[in-house]
Amino acid sequence: MDSPDPLILPSTEAGIARAARLLRAGELVAFPTETVYGLGADATSGPAVAAIYAAKGRPSFNPLIVHVADAEAARRHVVWSNMAERLAGAFWPGPLTLVLPLAPDHGIASLVTAGLETLAVRVPAQPSSQALLRAVDRPVAAPSANPSGRISATTALHVAAGLGPRVAAILDDGPCTVGLESTILGIASEGPVLLRPGGLATERIEDLLGETLRQREDSEGLSAPGQMLSHYAPAAAVRLNANAARTGEVLLGFGPMDCDLNLSPTGDLAEAAANLFDHLHRLDATGRPIAVAPVPVQGLGLAINDRLRRAAAPRD
Ligand code: TXA
Ligand code: MG
Repeated sequence: MDSPDPLILPSTEAGIARAARLLRAGELVAFPTETVYGLGADATSGPAVAAIYAAKGRPSFNPLIVHVADAEAARRHVVWSNMAERLAGAFWPGPLTLVLPLAPDHGIASLVTAGLETLAVRVPAQPSSQALLRAVDRPVAAPSANPSGRISATTALHVAAGLGPRVAAILDDGPCTVGLESTILGIASEGPVLLRPGGLATERIEDLLGETLRQREDSEGLSAPGQMLSHYAPAAAVRLNANAARTGEVLLGFGPMDCDLNLSPTGDLAEAAANLFDHLHRLDATGRPIAVAPVPVQGLGLAINDRLRRAAAPRD
């Protein structure tokens, strides 16, 4: 027998309370953050976390981010440091994930870290995710709420279309405002390393720390195991740095130009970030190959180009 469709819960007090109860009972609940929708499960429960990997078809060597309501909650699970304090003080709650050494009595299911001795922690800013995390009162493991390797979800509809009955419920709080996953910064050893560009512009971190961030290279392989080259992939082929569509293609534009969908007609990178995944979902639904106009590589453009490069990468 088919499982029933997921419950769509409104982000009201009652909806959030229901979502929290389901999470505490070990169910999978998709929930909104300012970056993308997350596929949440109780991070202290091995079986609940195992269900995330099964629902996404995610390789079990790819660790998950743990979400908590504030820095104080994060400190229960990781070895805190001066640098963590500075970064959290400046950017939490917000689209920054910190990778730190696991604390001795961390309480996190080992599947979450895929056997690593570090943990990725994040404090989302969206009021509904804040309310949910406080109601759950446990750390919540959550990857982006899309099938592994596919386009991330920035609306409840994207989640329902991608994961359907594999989630118990979806907390719906409209489209995500940032639209790109969090920036991931490794600060577990030596100096800070940018593990994934994302919704917090790298320049803002560099300004705070007063140093240029070292970037993890793709050739460094599994130090940020989820950063496979092919990722965020639509079903259709993707061609980058296109100034016009070729026959049969649909064109995703940026700045003033003639195109099928425009990330930002005025060339605003924050608007382009917020539109990126939704526009890719829409163009993918046409079934035609997608050509994408160039997007400047600065500010949020670094993360946008990272996602586009992976969307266009050769697939296995
Ligand atoms: O904005 C976001 O970060 C969203 C929302 C839901 O919070 N989450 C998200 O999760 O993007 P996910 O699973 O799609 O991406 C998490 C990335 C993966 O590339 C994973 O390999 C990396 O974080 N990661 C997790 N734990 C890590 C660790 N201990 N060390 C290095 N990388 C880690
Ligand atoms: Mg993801």
